[in-house]
Amino acid sequence: MAIARKHSLLYTFITFLSLLISRKPHLALGMSAITANQTLAGDQKLTSAKGKFVLGFFKPGNASNNWYIGIWFGNISQQTVIWVANREEPVTNAGASKLVISSDGNLVLLNQNRTIVWSTHTKNASFDSTEAVMLDTGNLVLRNRSNTSIVLWQSFDHLTHAWLPGSKLGLNKITGVNQNLISWKDENNPSPGLFSFQLDPKEQEFFLWWHNSITYWRSGKWQGNFFENAPEMGSYENTYITFNFTNDETGFYLTYWVLDDSIISGNIMSISGQLQSLIWNKFAEQWSIPTAQPKDQCSVYNLCGSFGSCIDNNLHTCQCIKGFTEKNPVNWGSGDYSGGCIRKNPLQCTQNGSTKGKKDRFYKLNNMVLPNNFKSFEIDNLKDCEIACSNNCSCTAYAYNNGCSLWYGDLVNLKDNGGETFYLRLAASEVPTTSRKKRTIVIVSIAGLFLFLFLTFLLFPIIRKWWRLRSMKISRGTLSAFTYQDLVYITKNFSETLGKGGFGSVYKGTLPNSTVVAVKRLRDINQSDKSFRAEVSTIGNIQHFNLIRLLGFCCEKGRKLLVYEYMPMGSLDKHLFGSASLTWKIRYQIALGISRGLLYLHDECRDCIIHCDIKPENILLNESFVPKIADFGLAKLLGREFSRVLTSMRGTVGYLAPEWIAGSAITTKADVYSYGMMLFEIISGKRNRKEGDDLGDASQEEEGNLSFFPAFAANKLVEGDIHCLLDLMSVDDCNLEELERAVKVALWCVQIEEDLRPSMRQVVQMLEGQFNVNMPPIPRPFQVLTEMPDSINFFSITTSKTPAVKVPMSTLDE
Ligand SMILES: *[C@@H]1O[C@H](CO)[C@@H](O)[C@H](O)[C@H]1NC(C)=O
Ligand SMILES: *[C@@H]1O[C@H](CO)[C@@H](O)[C@H](O)[C@H]1NC(C)=O
Ligand SMILES: *[C@@H]1O[C@H](CO)[C@@H](O)[C@H](O)[C@H]1NC(C)=O
Ligand SMILES: *[C@@H]1O[C@H](CO)[C@@H](O)[C@H](O)[C@H]1NC(C)=O
Ligand SMILES: *[C@@H]1O[C@H](CO)[C@@H](O)[C@H](O)[C@H]1NC(C)=O
Ligand SMILES: *[C@@H]1O[C@H](CO)[C@@H](O)[C@H](O)[C@H]1NC(C)=O
Ligand SMILES: *[C@@H]1O[C@H](CO)[C@@H](O)[C@H](O)[C@H]1NC(C)=O
Ligand SMILES: *[C@@H]1O[C@H](CO)[C@@H](O)[C@H](O)[C@H]1NC(C)=O
Ligand SMILES: *[C@@H]1O[C@H](CO)[C@@H](O)[C@H](O)[C@H]1NC(C)=O
Ligand SMILES: *[C@@H]1O[C@H](CO)[C@@H](O)[C@H](O)[C@H]1NC(C)=O
Repeated sequence: MAIARKHSLLYTFITFLSLLISRKPHLALGMSAITANQTLAGDQKLTSAKGKFVLGFFKPGNASNNWYIGIWFGNISQQTVIWVANREEPVTNAGASKLVISSDGNLVLLNQNRTIVWSTHTKNASFDSTEAVMLDTGNLVLRNRSNTSIVLWQSFDHLTHAWLPGSKLGLNKITGVNQNLISWKDENNPSPGLFSFQLDPKEQEFFLWWHNSITYWRSGKWQGNFFENAPEMGSYENTYITFNFTNDETGFYLTYWVLDDSIISGNIMSISGQLQSLIWNKFAEQWSIPTAQPKDQCSVYNLCGSFGSCIDNNLHTCQCIKGFTEKNPVNWGSGDYSGGCIRKNPLQCTQNGSTKGKKDRFYKLNNMVLPNNFKSFEIDNLKDCEIACSNNCSCTAYAYNNGCSLWYGDLVNLKDNGGETFYLRLAASEVPTTSRKKRTIVIVSIAGLFLFLFLTFLLFPIIRKWWRLRSMKISRGTLSAFTYQDLVYITKNFSETLGKGGFGSVYKGTLPNSTVVAVKRLRDINQSDKSFRAEVSTIGNIQHFNLIRLLGFCCEKGRKLLVYEYMPMGSLDKHLFGSASLTWKIRYQIALGISRGLLYLHDECRDCIIHCDIKPENILLNESFVPKIADFGLAKLLGREFSRVLTSMRGTVGYLAPEWIAGSAITTKADVYSYGMMLFEIISGKRNRKEGDDLGDASQEEEGNLSFFPAFAANKLVEGDIHCLLDLMSVDDCNLEELERAVKVALWCVQIEEDLRPSMRQVVQMLEGQFNVNMPPIPRPFQVLTEMPDSINFFSITTSKTPAVKVPMSTLDE
């Protein structure tokens, strides 16, 4: 299937969609138009000609009793609403409410009392001749039945939170309306929320606004074919989506088109404050979010409210900091965090100077990003800084870092994982006295230790004997079947975690013969035990020097665990991106080893296995830095669930081939792509994509801190200036010829067109030096980036355009 791929997919991440409501749509009681004689009520639906869009009553989420008239995609399994008529005026009884053509020819919504709650408010309509139809573009139009080109009203002129291909966002110069997108309040409430996306006609830029007062992201100026700060919103050849920013006599507006009619897509102003671009992944049956603005969820202004802290991960977005609790847990639960958090216990100092309570204390919070509305004082020690804060009751926190910073009033825009420390004022009861508690802990643990040693001495010989007997029974063939109890014992009740991933956690364990193993506990999967066993035994038979060995498994009452050999050096990312860097020789050996392991998976074992999740975290190293690929076969083991988790897992997407996001069939070439992306990281010793650490004001610059080594390397390669890559790599023993070969191979692997990518066999041969490697074409996305020096300032690129040269890989053909 020849699909052109959107360049920006390369630089994306995917988050869970907070906005979508997962509910199978009703079987549409389809009708083609609402006319004077035909109304819409209850379960009835107005469906577009090809069934792509549906208009009808919907209930947003199960917590709501309200009904709204809305439009959603007619053709996908998740009901995704893209337009709401009566955002602020719900009806409570859909059966008794109707959508009708009123006597003046308008389309109106009547509630159970026959009161108009919503109307199209147009002047020139007439009762007899007007009809409302749903178009396959997602546009609801009110038009003249005798002459359908006379459009009286259309939903594309009244966008709510979503923007579809073909509709215009921005200023309509004829009506003077500046059309914008406003988020829902929360999952259960489509009324206008705090976040909006709109054009500023004066600045000629699009802004994301909080509460119509604070800008937290701006698109930058239109550069002729893309936005300065959002190159993925642009018009390029052969991309999925083309944007055009037009200024003519009718308006000043942004539109976009989708190349292929079968691609289902939309842009949504989400309740989490991001403008998300969505593409329906038919394969995984879920939305992919190839891009979102701002990219970092936590850059959304005041997302978590006062005293809420933003965490950038999939599971939750906001949590209250120590000593605080959600002000409005119901809203919080449905994704509206704006209420923020309140103190669990009031401060003593606010209780009118009463001396009854204990004096407030300060609690140390580590690893935060701090709000920037502090006042600085020249105080040169921590103690005096604390005193300065405790002397003023409205001081809520202080930090000391070569000077004293004090915060007054509510704290907003706190973030986790930022590496800064501050001290938060809390009621005394929230901060236990440290000294007494510490002493208790020490005493208890010493006592515990003695007891433990005593018992161990007493029982050890017995356990050992029992275990020996037992383990003789369980081992048969190459693969051992463990009972769950065995594994609880081996892993000491899953006490030592080696890692956590989307598919489950990995624990360290020790077999009775003191072999150390890694036990992977798969998260709930709906696969039958029988097919699980079948798949596991296939994987168990796969043995290769560069693949992790599966030693055993457990499949009991739905619990599924895998037992692997243990690699003491851990995963590749820790060595590659850690402080001590690997030598070039080792890096090259690692790259070669991985390619051999993959080749074996693809070609040489009985059934071809596509790994699907190649990334440094899934490459383990043994004592002599021999790479071993982990987690192969999981894609088959987990089936559909796998792609669902994979495409929504943060940190994976940089390695995912474009066909994953497009939802087309996955072949071994998808692994080749991931391998290529990883090879760039092995070469550079750095993550391909590094977001700027963005400690500054969220309303200030947001983008512009991207660095993308593959694009940089590609251009240096074309310029013949491979030498300068060396400076970035901090390796002494680099072999220029090997470096050039590796960069070329990596670039071949990350071609957007699957057919251009080499097979794993060719990769091995190229890396082994069996062939000269031709100059690869530069994938278009890489060119786009290099046209904009600012967006990759990490490597301070000053070069500009490089023409795309398509060179056939003739020397590769065997
Ligand atoms: C509605 O029905 C009446 C009588 O059944 C008919 O005369 C009229 O043309 C119809 N109008 C429309 C718009 O279908
Ligand atoms: C809504 O439904 C989901 C699952 O469909 C459930 O987990 C959740 O508890 C429900 N919420 C309420 C408020 O009923
Ligand atoms: C979805 O649309 C496509 C083409 O537009 C069509 O082939 C397919 O049958 C539709 N699926 C459903 C479930 O309506
Ligand atoms: C309908 O009218 C009744 C009686 O006038 C009133 O109590 C009720 O609130 C109304 N309902 C709506 C949805 O307006
Ligand atoms: C209504 O129709 C009149 C005459 O046909 C026209 O001048 C006017 O612009 C129309 N108004 C709207 C709102 O379309
Ligand atoms: C609808 O179109 C017909 C034919 O063009 C025209 O005669 C009629 O006046 C139009 N009605 C309205 C309300 O525009
Ligand atoms: C329909 O309306 C358009 C625009 O108002 C007009 O140009 C066209 O002649 C009309 N067609 C008919 C059949 O009335
Ligand atoms: C974008 O809009 C301008 C002005 O309307 C037009 O000249 C240009 O052809 C459009 N570009 C694309 C790619 O459609
Ligand atoms: C403090 O005292 C003032 C007046 O004495 C009263 O208005 C205020 O509510 C009190 N505040 C608190 C927190 O008790
Ligand atoms: C506490 O600090 C605030 C903000 O700087 C200031 O307005 C207020 O006067 C101070 N209060 C006292 C008692 O110093």
